[in-house]
Amino acid sequence: MEQRIILSQNLNGDLTTAISECEHDRLFVLTDTTTAQSCWPRISNYRCLKDARLITIGATDTHKNLKTLSTVWKSLEEGGATRHSCLINLGGGMVTDLGGFAASTFKRGIDFINIPTTLLAMVDASIGGKTGINFNGLKNEIGIFRNSRFVILDTMFLQTLDEPDIRSGYAEMLKHGLISDKQMWAELIDFDLQQPDLLQLSQMVADSIRVKEHIVTEDPTEQDIRKALNFGHTIGHAFEALALQQNHPILHGYAVAYGLLCELYLCAVKAKFPIDRMRQTVSFIKENYGRLDFTCNDYEALINLMHHDKKNTAGSINFTLLHDIGDILINQTVSEKEICETLDFYREN
Ligand code: GLY
Repeated sequence: MEQRIILSQNLNGDLTTAISECEHDRLFVLTDTTTAQSCWPRISNYRCLKDARLITIGATDTHKNLKTLSTVWKSLEEGGATRHSCLINLGGGMVTDLGGFAASTFKRGIDFINIPTTLLAMVDASIGGKTGINFNGLKNEIGIFRNSRFVILDTMFLQTLDEPDIRSGYAEMLKHGLISDKQMWAELIDFDLQQPDLLQLSQMVADSIRVKEHIVTEDPTEQDIRKALNFGHTIGHAFEALALQQNHPILHGYAVAYGLLCELYLCAVKAKFPIDRMRQTVSFIKENYGRLDFTCNDYEALINLMHHDKKNTAGSINFTLLHDIGDILINQTVSEKEICETLDFYREN
């Protein structure tokens, strides 16, 4: 199913059109406790939403689980949803991933529309049809590819975000720069993330979305080049899962930033990525994201987590690496010894 991405200057008008194109009997809006307060009031008086039923779930990744999913299915059922109903996901990546999966599985699939409200969801999670939940301590372990009919982006929602949320989404933008284009990368590491200019950021969001849109159109189900979007995530997801297991959850984008730092080192060692560009990016990440504390006693657990990465083939841990900015190498096998060296590099730098 095709996904239409609208960079909206008129959310009310664009949402009205999208809803009317998704023929439906009942309309539902999924929010979490944060977006129910900060984002829903900005749109709840739109005429096109006057009959919508609101479903609210707990905020943050700790709720991206089977229990929350079942409460959404239940709310849809209790609200009289049929196969011809439509769900609008209003929120960050947790809401668009879980809501997308709930909609994709309820009565074998109902239409859904994503309105991303975090930077991370705008540039990454809401686009390209990855839906799902965490399971058994593993990130996004259960899910399917299914596109929302529309993604409607309005950067006014950036005003609702706190600093860590901006930084979290920015890490995915940094990844898009690294996998695509030297000029975009240079602009990204030059940006003042301590005092972000939201107007400039909105323009950079549009460029970042084009990188993702281009890749997911070419390879919607990650057989090939979509693996580039996973740069930084093999180690990043392991950091995120470990932090969750240790009851110190970190935002996804922070884990990605730490993962990018490690994987850039691997690129330099294994794929001759230019050292100066690696150093510049590493400095930017260290300045803006601080560091994750772990010791060599955590290496085994981290490597075990990496063995669950969805890019793997039996027995080996596969990475996406870069020979240079925009010069992508997929399906690169990295040994456990090399991963340990990378984790040493992270801790020593
Ligand atoms: N977030 C990576 C992807 O959508 O493929």
